[in-house]
Amino acid sequence: MRGSGQIIVPTLLTLGALAASAQAAETPADTYFSFAVTENSHNHQGSNLLFLDFQEQADPSRITPAVVISPRVEPGAIRMDGRLDEWNPQWFTTIAGRVMNNYPLSEFYDATPGPIQLASAHDDQYIYFAVRFEDANHDASLNRKRWLFDGTRWQVDTHAAIKPDAPAAGVINKDHDIAGAEDEDQVFFMFPIVDKERNFRDGGLGCGAYCHPNLVDSGNPKEHLIGEDTAGMHTSLPGDLADVWHWTSTRSHLGNTLKDGYLIYGDGIFNGRKADEGQAPDTDNDLKAIRKEGDSLPAFVSRKDYEAGNYNKHGFRTEILNQEDAMPIEAGMTFATMVSLPYSIQRPGTGSRSDVQVMAVHDAESHFWTLEFKRALQTKDPNDRAFVPGKDAAPPRLPPIVPGNGENGARLFAKHCESCHGKKGEGRYEKGRWVVPRNQRASGPLIAKTVSFDRIKRQRALAHEINPDRLMPFVPITQQEAEDIAVWLQRQSTRD
Ligand code: HEC
Repeated sequence: MRGSGQIIVPTLLTLGALAASAQAAETPADTYFSFAVTENSHNHQGSNLLFLDFQEQADPSRITPAVVISPRVEPGAIRMDGRLDEWNPQWFTTIAGRVMNNYPLSEFYDATPGPIQLASAHDDQYIYFAVRFEDANHDASLNRKRWLFDGTRWQVDTHAAIKPDAPAAGVINKDHDIAGAEDEDQVFFMFPIVDKERNFRDGGLGCGAYCHPNLVDSGNPKEHLIGEDTAGMHTSLPGDLADVWHWTSTRSHLGNTLKDGYLIYGDGIFNGRKADEGQAPDTDNDLKAIRKEGDSLPAFVSRKDYEAGNYNKHGFRTEILNQEDAMPIEAGMTFATMVSLPYSIQRPGTGSRSDVQVMAVHDAESHFWTLEFKRALQTKDPNDRAFVPGKDAAPPRLPPIVPGNGENGARLFAKHCESCHGKKGEGRYEKGRWVVPRNQRASGPLIAKTVSFDRIKRQRALAHEINPDRLMPFVPITQQEAEDIAVWLQRQSTRD
């Protein structure tokens, strides 16, 4: 929201600030955006719809659970050091985190909803964000898909065990036979660039409109993962485009940046997530990823560790593998049992792919992550959201969606959903296929998206084959009711 026009209150400003204000660009246009964090790479919690209120002078009275303010600060006022001492504590919004995505039958632990603190600021050139949250499993998760040599062959190390005193200890699916290796802490921002569908407005679904559909059938009702390429994530109208910032604790953290990408339109399981031009700060240490065929096997070791004979020591770990130290694994190299290698190779990020600076600190005592983000208000890349003056988004008036009420959810599910999805959302699997999918891990935004449009009409518009029995009907529930249903569904076991 614009400040009070051009009126400046000189008594509050130092000379330096006056000089900065004299040449100051106009205030960037307010916008809606989405924000989420993960413990385990996939299942995230946060808020699908927040409002970013750009301010000439800080007005914390505008903060609500759905409004993040971005006051103007003097150039250099924010230091990128992963500490928040220069941030005014009154500028933080506390987000009541909700589950944004849980793969219905996934091999990944459920998201653990909790509070997240978020603040923003801007100067003439840059936008900044500060984020603070308790890590759900009290670990920094720097070991996504780490390789482990069992004496005969390389395997991917499994999830870190859930710590009994960590928030994640409460997740319902923690005791299921979960063998996933992708425990990685992540932080996502999504900013609209082209939004003809109007998801980023008061009452819109934000990123929820692009929730991963999960309808690919692997043919195995017991399988926790429904199939290959289940994470088809894309905008839902041709031309719609969103900027996605994807910070990852194993892959981009050590390079002090994130993986800047964008989301384009597609249909069905089409993967609309694309990378900005330039080099990500990491690459996969995996022959399959490099050759695009064959088995997954580590491709590189550390030259230093190899030459020092470290790989002959039982249980030796190369903690970090840098590209300049990486040496191809060749026939005849031997490894002691339990030697382990990183799955990610660190390298300098370049171009627009790495144009967001991030400083992140995981505190081993408090178990909190603290992160600072910095990006130019405007880049040369059309796939980056430009924070420039323009048409302000109207601020939210509707009440924000709050964490759901499971009892109400149970009632609503019995009334609207049970007849097709089963008593506990277990779905219907007949003759080798899902007639109605299991939806026990569905998030509120996914439910709101699923029930909110007329699929039959849409399929017809897309000229697809239509069988109304195989399509989810339109159901008249509110976003808050979808959230209530989600909370109840997330308490159901996928074993029943
Ligand atoms: C008339 C039967 C029917 C009713 C009633 C129904 N659904 Fe569905 N639902 C389906 C079918 C069929 C699909 C799969 C095909 C599709 O997505 O169109 C589906 C898909 C879904 C999905 C997507 C699953 C995924 O993994 O992406 C969710 C979520 C969902 N339903 C939730 C609900 C909720 C919540 C209700 C109640 C408010 C409900 N459904 C009521 C039949 C139904």
